[in-house]
Amino acid sequence: MSSDDNIVFYAEAGGTLRGRVRVPGDKSISHRSIMFGALADGVTEVSGFLEGEDCLATIGAFRAMGVRIDGPDHGRVTVHGVGLHGLREPSGPLYMGNSGTSMRLLAGLLAGQAFDVVMTGDASLTRRPMKRVADPLRKMGALIETSPSGTPPLRITGKQNLQGLVYAMPMASAQVKSSLLLAGLYAQGQTCVTEPAPTRDHTERMLAGFGYAVEREGCTVCVEGGGHLHAANIDVPADISSAAFFMVGAAIAPGSDLTLEHVGVNPTRIGVVNILKAMGADITLGNERRVGGEPVADIRVRASSRLRGIRIPQDQVPLAIDEFPALFIAAACAEGETVLTGAEELRVKESDRIHVMADGLLALGIDAKPTPDGMVIHGGALQGGRINSHGDHRIAMAFAMAALRAGGPVMIEDCANVRTSFPDFLSLARAAGLQVKQVS
Ligand code: S3P
Repeated sequence: MSSDDNIVFYAEAGGTLRGRVRVPGDKSISHRSIMFGALADGVTEVSGFLEGEDCLATIGAFRAMGVRIDGPDHGRVTVHGVGLHGLREPSGPLYMGNSGTSMRLLAGLLAGQAFDVVMTGDASLTRRPMKRVADPLRKMGALIETSPSGTPPLRITGKQNLQGLVYAMPMASAQVKSSLLLAGLYAQGQTCVTEPAPTRDHTERMLAGFGYAVEREGCTVCVEGGGHLHAANIDVPADISSAAFFMVGAAIAPGSDLTLEHVGVNPTRIGVVNILKAMGADITLGNERRVGGEPVADIRVRASSRLRGIRIPQDQVPLAIDEFPALFIAAACAEGETVLTGAEELRVKESDRIHVMADGLLALGIDAKPTPDGMVIHGGALQGGRINSHGDHRIAMAFAMAALRAGGPVMIEDCANVRTSFPDFLSLARAAGLQVKQVS
């Protein structure tokens, strides 16, 4: 489904979130389970896989390259690995839909293949910057073309001899890091990537889980080309980025007491918990355990008497990069001013999240000032109103939760892309207590 289908969400004002919810599987880990499973020797069994359109695009791409993948069926996927050199040339372009993760990670992986390939995407993905992967991949010897403005489609010419690279990333991006590490599997010598601040490390963890040597020291991670991946089973935890909407909902709606089960709490993803706690939210992690190399916990959120605005610590920004749409709703409900800086990456997500969120908050009566790299939000009384998500799944879900504290219903336009990351959002949100439905 593309964002051309104007699906509208209608959320009634008020309500509380209560009970226990298990949100769908982690998107980042689901993508990687297919990629590494496909490149491994042997059969990888995945459970808890996110059956959202983004991850289905990754499955489609590997099927098009000759990999047998059974499922998904209730989160179960079986990937029949073909080994690092077993992919076959697809018969046409690979369509990545809305998924930046698929396109950027595959750019690295495909740069090392013996065949040519073209990757395309939907209107949103076609606007997103790809030079951030194309430039360093070219330094490794890849032949890769973008549009003149550095956006998709990507045309990759195979049969290049990739060389290892030592690269300091100019931005904190797990997608760029992962893309280069995937190319590094095919390169001669070592590929080392240094990040300006820690970003999600699922690639490093999963490579190690598949028996591939990964060296990590401080903010640098290195792999050596020419190894093998060995199939390993993967239990995908619930996605903290999807849980974030419910966390914010429970924190802002008086009387709420909600437990989110089996959520991935990898330290590189936990910014939303740290930021909400700093704002005064009542959040506890229980039943902490490890599942397939990733830390997992149940997260209990009880409505706080009052959230307060804060200056968001810069070191938390990459650790919460996908959660700012939800966090801006928390800031709108907090007492005082919340200031976000150092988050210019938000401008190149599925939408310009600074611009689109500020517009939406203003439409609901909140004083929100966009800045080049963040936003200043004065908490206040949310009103009902109509907002446009601009086809951005996370913005749609964040504004649905805002209705819990709004003075009237909230209508959200252009919500089709919620299916990219959270296909059963409406039914889970309703089960927890948000009165939300699709009206067209
Ligand atoms: C992701 C990395 C992040 C994040 C995206 C998923 C990943 O993107 O926003 O949703 O799975 O590696 P950047 O690397 O562009 O920050």
